[in-house]
Amino acid sequence: MRSADCVVAGCRQLVTCRGPLPKRGGALRDVGVVENGWLASDRGRIVFAGTERDFRAEVAVADGAARVDGGGLVAMPGFVDAHTHLPFAGDRQREFGLRLRGWTYQQLAAEGMGILSTVRATRAASRSELLALCLRRLDEMLLTGTTTVEAKSGYGLDLESEVKQLEVLKDLGSRHPIDVVPTFMGAHEVPPEYRDRRGAYIDLLVRTLIPEVRRRNLAEFFDVFCEPGYFSLEETEAMLRAAREAGFKLKVHAEEFAALGGAALAARLGAVSAEHLVSIDDGGIAALAASATAAVCLPGVPFFLMLDKRPPARLLIEAGAAVALASDFNPGSSHISSMLLVLQLGVFTLGLSVEEAVNACTGNGAYAVDRHADVGTLEPGKKMDVLLLDASDYVSLGYRPGANPIRHVIKNGRLVVRDGRKAEAAG
Ligand code: NIG
Ligand code: FE
Repeated sequence: MRSADCVVAGCRQLVTCRGPLPKRGGALRDVGVVENGWLASDRGRIVFAGTERDFRAEVAVADGAARVDGGGLVAMPGFVDAHTHLPFAGDRQREFGLRLRGWTYQQLAAEGMGILSTVRATRAASRSELLALCLRRLDEMLLTGTTTVEAKSGYGLDLESEVKQLEVLKDLGSRHPIDVVPTFMGAHEVPPEYRDRRGAYIDLLVRTLIPEVRRRNLAEFFDVFCEPGYFSLEETEAMLRAAREAGFKLKVHAEEFAALGGAALAARLGAVSAEHLVSIDDGGIAALAASATAAVCLPGVPFFLMLDKRPPARLLIEAGAAVALASDFNPGSSHISSMLLVLQLGVFTLGLSVEEAVNACTGNGAYAVDRHADVGTLEPGKKMDVLLLDASDYVSLGYRPGANPIRHVIKNGRLVVRDGRKAEAAG
């Protein structure tokens, strides 16, 4: 018998998303549903996910165990949001107004707005202001089902401000139930003081920032914005190699506006993921499909920027790539923190089935941040990170755009959202 200190009893549907990760091709169409499913965990880790009969035969419930009634509810894994720019200050509402009057994202950047306006605000913010902003945003994410989030620096672009962002991310660990996966993105943009000597900024990154962030153990991943007007393919490769040598795992913002070859580069260098991919060409798709590099599509970006082009998620899936969906939460190109909305955009704008979108927001999201041994599916050994939906069928995740069916959230075996509100003791 396995002992359990937390039980979710009698769910109308238990959506396990079980199976090897990443899921590719036809495997993405299976979400592993158990009707009348039971779940149990001990000290935060799942010890059982299956039928009532097996539960009764295999699980001994400890005295005083927490028990959640799953009657009438659908249980599924918490969302893993594999791409966000969480720690920023300020907002870009004025730029949003300009975009509504016809300005493009690139025109705003060329006028010194865009990423650089958020760099100014983030440099000016104190650590405690930044921390408070992040905590509020994590609360919002938790209520829409995110239980693990990747978060990038990249609005500091100097040692002090990048470190400030990354230290805030570290502080969140003890202050909020959501797990934060930190990424150093000093290569998000060239800062204004290096405008006319970009080579010197790349040198600074390679010689000082990358080793220093590593030495302080502030980030697990390194990421580059490989796009015309930001960093070229050659610059990207040089920085990725330096970061890999220093011990970082790699991510690449690739082919958002132009097919520079960032996706194939990511695959060649063994990056964990390549993200955006809106303009990816056939060679890039084939390279990702043949690699272990996850293809992270961010449907919130074309939606928020009101662009017709979309990441070719269907083609990527059919080619065999490990497709995940993520929010790209940031103040300029996707001010979207809700993975529920991302899932729905995956269905409504990328042509995914609800099953594909669910797997892309859970197990494959976990794979895209190298956390798939820990989270992303409801299987023994993984964290007890569970969403309980007020729904008769998981399909309503797609079928009711704009609605939030999440009634409870369990994180590490603790109820952190109860009846749609953050629970008192959730931290
Ligand atoms: O992923 N692409 C680079 N970074 C973000 C945008 C950041 C911003 O506009 O502040 C993105 O789209
Ligand atoms: Fe991004």
